[in-house]
Amino acid sequence: MSVTMVKESTIISKRTSRKEWSAMESTKFEKIHTEIFDGADYASKIIAQEIAALIRYKTERNEKCVLGLATGSSPIQVYAELVRMHKKEGLSFQNVVSFNLDEYYGLDKTDNQSYIHFMHHHLFDHVDILSENINVPSGKIAFEHIAEYCTQYEEKIESYGGLDFQLLGIGRTGHIGFNEPGSKISSTTRMITLDYLTRQDNAFAFNSMADVPRKAVTMGVGTILKAKRIVIMAYGMKKAEIVRKTVEGEISSDVPATFLQEHEDVTFVLDENSAKDLTRFETPWIVGDCEWSKDLKRKAVVWLSQKLNKPILKLADRDYNDHGMSEILGEGGAYEVNIKMFNHFQHTITGWPGGKPNADDTNRPERATPGKKRIIIFSPHPDDDVISMGGTFLRLVDQGHEVHVAYQTSGNIAVADHEAFRFAEFARELYEHAAGD
Ligand code: F6R
Repeated sequence: MSVTMVKESTIISKRTSRKEWSAMESTKFEKIHTEIFDGADYASKIIAQEIAALIRYKTERNEKCVLGLATGSSPIQVYAELVRMHKKEGLSFQNVVSFNLDEYYGLDKTDNQSYIHFMHHHLFDHVDILSENINVPSGKIAFEHIAEYCTQYEEKIESYGGLDFQLLGIGRTGHIGFNEPGSKISSTTRMITLDYLTRQDNAFAFNSMADVPRKAVTMGVGTILKAKRIVIMAYGMKKAEIVRKTVEGEISSDVPATFLQEHEDVTFVLDENSAKDLTRFETPWIVGDCEWSKDLKRKAVVWLSQKLNKPILKLADRDYNDHGMSEILGEGGAYEVNIKMFNHFQHTITGWPGGKPNADDTNRPERATPGKKRIIIFSPHPDDDVISMGGTFLRLVDQGHEVHVAYQTSGNIAVADHEAFRFAEFARELYEHAAGD
């Protein structure tokens, strides 16, 4: 899947300095400096190079290099590249002091799923960092000592003069570290309850959902924001929605990552899939000149008609001009474009959804042959097939096709599992809390 490119953004696979980025018209809705790469591999190398340069700079000055480190899938290749640089290019970690963002509460350092284990596996065991300089929050502190332990973690970071560099991933809830929605901008290291969606996303590393810890110890948003430099990474389509909210949305504790908009030296490293919902890719005509492919024109006209709540045939020249779409108007103006688009969409509608046997199918959405087809309808719930496409369903059957329906859930509730579990967990905690009073 590739994003629709605006002319300006030949930036894929290249770095865009903050200066270049802020001068680009296409980034005008972006409140965090973004760099978009062809893939995580190259992006990770660039991040590793920045970290290595910082380590070397500090080494030359005989200073400690204080790194805030993350776990999860996003930084794995950064660590692999750092290990390679250590082995092949003599990059030394002797002056590095590391502080990890978080740890699952209840997991011991010997647990394979613990973040300390992760860090040793991917980085610490392969470089020359001094063991006394490694700091990962412990998941085994007794509940009554957690607050004190967290204060000490904060103080220890401060004692080194704060974090020089913080590496971050982002969760689909908008968490950084494990600061789930509701976290405050001033929050510090503390115990937190993990969101159901986060537990679900991390469940692959455990035997079952039930084994994924419900709590974690995490640096706070405030702790992270104190870092001198922050690099946050997101790769893949799954992250596209939260990336847009974080980069272009309003600052809100509902999406804790939006607090990064307040930091003056943060870069969001993306691949083209995680960047795809940003305005410059999703609706590029709003923010600059476009390369108008046929698909993009269709997408833009539908978007305009929906935005103005006007049928396509009623769109006027002015509507196109006011919304950055004047380039698609030829000599015939809106009138001609509208008719062309209307005819295109008209040809996607048919009274013969399975194709009309032995008819000219040049302008029909479905082939005339074979005359009879085997058809499978995928229906998320047992009623969606009938509610959303009952007429088509009936036509297909009436016209003699062999029609099957595949139901994708039992449909016993019309609520997403993660929503149901989130509320069930909240109710359980409330009950336990009340019982403890
Ligand atoms: C990990 C951490 C989390 C992850 C985030 C993204 O230490 O604090 O915020 O960075 O959940 O995880 P991945 O990279 O696996 O998508």
